[in-house]
Amino acid sequence: MTYEVFATQQEAVKQLAAEVAELIRSRQAEGKNVVLGLATGASPLGFYAELIRLHKEEGLSFKNVTTFNLDEYYGLPREHVESYWYFMHTNLFNHIDIPAENINLPSGTVAEEDIAAHCQAYEDKIKACGGLDLQILGIGRTGHIGFNEPGSDDTTRTRQVHLDDLTKTDAAPAFGGFENVPSYAITMGVATIMDAKKVRLMAWGEKKASIVNKAINGPITADVAASYLQKHPDAKYFLDAAAGSEL
Ligand code: F6R
Repeated sequence: MTYEVFATQQEAVKQLAAEVAELIRSRQAEGKNVVLGLATGASPLGFYAELIRLHKEEGLSFKNVTTFNLDEYYGLPREHVESYWYFMHTNLFNHIDIPAENINLPSGTVAEEDIAAHCQAYEDKIKACGGLDLQILGIGRTGHIGFNEPGSDDTTRTRQVHLDDLTKTDAAPAFGGFENVPSYAITMGVATIMDAKKVRLMAWGEKKASIVNKAINGPITADVAASYLQKHPDAKYFLDAAAGSEL
C-alpha cells in the first residue's frame, strides 16, 4: 500500500483519471473489457467529472468498461434522488458511452428473503467478468470502505449491513434529517474489495485526516475496515494536503 499527498484535489483526480484512462485504452487495444469497481459520495465527484471531460474532449470511450458499484442503500428505489443508482447515472453514466448492460449496482429493493441470493449473484457476476481490475474507494469517518462498518473483517463478502450512527449523521443533511437516512445497505465486503487487482482510494479535507492516518498507520483491525488495505499489494491513497495532514 502506498499514498501520495497532492497540493490540490484537482491534481490528484487528474492523475488518477489518467491512470484509469490508460488502463481502459490498453485493454481496448487488446480487444478486451476492463472491470471497474466504483464508489459514490462526495470523494469521487471530481474524478468522475474528469472522466467525463476525457470522454467529451479527448475521445475516451467506455464501450469496453464493465462497472460494479460498491453499495446501495437498502429500501431506496433507483429513482430516489439519494439512491446510488441515481447518483451514478447523474454524475457519470449519463454522460459517457458505457453500455447500460455493463452497469452493475446492488439492488436497494430486493425482497428480504432474496437478499442472500442477490448478494451471492453479485459476487458470482464479478468473478464471471474476470474480477475487479481496479476498485475506486472513498473512506468514511468510521473507517468504512464500501459500507463495511466497524466489525467488518477481511472475510466479509457482499451482504446486507447495518449503518453506523456516524455514517447516518454524515448522510443526514442529504436526506433532510437523520431519521430519513436508511438504516441498512447492501455492500461488497472487505474480501471482495481486497480481491481487486488495484485499489485507489480518494480522501479530501481535514475531516478525513484522522481516519486516514488510522487506516494507514494504525493496527490492521476490523474496527477500521480500510486498515486491511495495508496488506493489499497494489493499493494507493490519493490525498489532498488537508486529508494527509496527520500522517
Ligand atoms: C460510497 C461508499 C462510502 C463512501 C464514504 C465516503 O459508495 O461506499 O464508503 O466512499 O462514506 O463518503 P464521502 O466521499 O461522501 O465522504
